[in-house]
Amino acid sequence: MIKEISVFLENEKSTSELGLKLSERLTSGLLIFLKGDLGAGKTCLVRSLLTSLGYQGKVKSPSYSLFEQYNISDTIINHFDLYRFKSAEEWLSAGFNDYINAYDITIIEWPERAENVLCEPDIEIEIMYENDINRKAFIRAQSKKGEVACKGLI
Ligand SMILES: Nc1ncnc2c1ncn2[C@@H]1O[C@H](COP(=O)(O)OP(=O)(O)O)[C@@H](O)[C@H]1O
Ligand SMILES: [Mg+2]
Repeated sequence: MIKEISVFLENEKSTSELGLKLSERLTSGLLIFLKGDLGAGKTCLVRSLLTSLGYQGKVKSPSYSLFEQYNISDTIINHFDLYRFKSAEEWLSAGFNDYINAYDITIIEWPERAENVLCEPDIEIEIMYENDINRKAFIRAQSKKGEVACKGLI
């Protein structure tokens, strides 16, 4: 069951607005995959989502640390970036699977790097370059929970 919607992102502000809308639709245990080339705007989207939820600190890209965790008003948000993974097994050996549960929200950039060991996401968002500032996002609901969260997103 995959329901896809696409949204034109005219500039960085539009990507941030999508992050805000997404933040309003998050439900517990949601697993979100973020795909797209380097610089497409994946972290930009997560940064906006976290600030919209009320996070006031600096949102670092987890491209070096692989993982950042946020606790915002008792909601845990796990933010992964697997770009540096050399093999999918690194996901398992790092024990990262333990972070995916029924309560916390998990967002994974570059899930392709661990695709064969990761479970299916509720939502997959793919951001494609159109040019320097224009992007197109494809939002795919891949579970009932994902579908409910995406309803009315755009
Ligand atoms: N429409 C857009 N959406 C998001 N970022 C944009 C857009 N246009 C330009 N940018 C720029 O592209 C870069 C996106 O960086 P980032 O979010 O870290 O990418 P990723 O996490 O996908 O590698 C930022 O420097 C941002 O200013
Ligand atoms: Mg990033």
